[in-house]
Formats: sequence, structure tokens, C-alpha cells
Amino acid sequence: MFVSVAIDGPAGAGKSTVAKIVADRLGYLYVDTGAMYRALTWKVLQEGLPFTEEEEIVRLAHDTDIELKYDDRQQLRVFCDGRDVTREIRQHQVSQNVSQVARIPGVRRRMVELQRQLARTRSVVMDGRDIGSYVLPDARHKFFLTASLDERVRRRCQQLDEQNIPFDPEAIKKEIKERDEMDRSRAVAPLVKAPDARLIDTTCQTIDQVVEEIITVIRGE
Ligand code: DC
Repeated sequence: MFVSVAIDGPAGAGKSTVAKIVADRLGYLYVDTGAMYRALTWKVLQEGLPFTEEEEIVRLAHDTDIELKYDDRQQLRVFCDGRDVTREIRQHQVSQNVSQVARIPGVRRRMVELQRQLARTRSVVMDGRDIGSYVLPDARHKFFLTASLDERVRRRCQQLDEQNIPFDPEAIKKEIKERDEMDRSRAVAPLVKAPDARLIDTTCQTIDQVVEEIITVIRGE
């Protein structure tokens, strides 16, 4: 029987860093669902499709091959129709528009189908917005990570800095706020804490502390 761990929360709450370490420690597959929505958004931009063309975007979601693979240094890489787009999907233009793509019901149906397929074949740690509440409602363990807006902005800037991606801190703050609002208010599978998810406020916690809390809960079953 495969085990699923769901880690949800708003942008910059530390989900991906924590989820990746937890997955490595448990020997599970890490699934970054945000990267899947980002890869599709990158493709929409490449094709020059307006974000209002919902039907076309849904068609693209079905025709695009999105894969998450580990390289030989155990870094997760994101491929879109065979092209490595790991770096491109973190660009500001993608971050700014991803929520518009992610709120389209047909896009979500396609992504959720892919995500559920992955969880049927492996034990997974999956991070996103709707994993515990919608994608994997029967996940064995559910966590919801939060942090103050300022702390989340600081972390996102640090991440971009480390990747040598240029940014403007004020623009990042605006983008995170707007993205959270759109993710929380969309009609289908919004960003929400599942009632049975454990809430962890990571504002004043290190990555190690959060990882330890999650591992302790999982091992203490
Ligand atoms: O985790 P992230 O910041 O890379 O996610 C990018 C966007 O993708 C996020 O703003 C909303 C969307 N998303 C979603 O709607 N559902 C998910 N399960 C994961 C991400």
C-alpha cells in the first residue's frame, strides 16, 4: 500500500524545500504540483496564447507532456515536451500569470488526474494548494504551512537570489499577495486548509525544525 503525504499552503511558506527533504528522508517521490501549473503557464506564454483563451489553454494542457524528473545530483527538474524548463518556470512573468491558468477548471482536471496517477504508483510527498483538501483527500498525513507575508517575501527573494534570477522585492510582494488572493478565491479547489491537516506556522522556525515536526508526526503514527 502506498502512502501519501500532503503539504499545502500559500506561496513562499517553505513547502517545496520542506517537502523535498521530507520525501528524501522517507524515500518517497516528491511531487511539486506548482511546477506543473508553472510549466503549462510557460507553454501558454511561449505559444503567445492570451490568458482569456480558456478552451485553447485546456487543449494545450492535454497536448503538453509535463514531467518531473530527478537529475544525477538528485535535483528535481521540470520538463515540458522534453525541454528542461526548471529555470524558466521561476521567471517573474510565469509567477505573475500562473494563478490565471491554474483557476481554469479544465486545466485543474487535467493536472489533478496526473497528480492522482502519480500517487497510485508510488508513495509520495506532494506539495501544492489543494492536495489535502481535493487531490488526495485520503492522504495518510496532511500538513498546512503558513508564514507571515513579509517572511514569505523574504524567502522568495532569497530563493531567486540563489538562482541568480533578477527581481524587484516590491514586485515580489505584490505578486505574492495577488497570487494568494486569486488562489484563495477561485471557484474550483481553492487554497484552503483541509479540516484534518496539521497547521504549522513557519514564520519563526528553521527548515530543520519544520522537517523534524513533520517527520515526528509521520513516524509517531
Ligand atoms: O507552489 P508554487 O508557488 O510554485 O505554485 C504556483 C501556482 O500554481 C500557485 O500560485 C497556484 C498554482 N497551484 C495550484 O493552483 N494548485 C496546486 N496544487 C499547486 C499550485
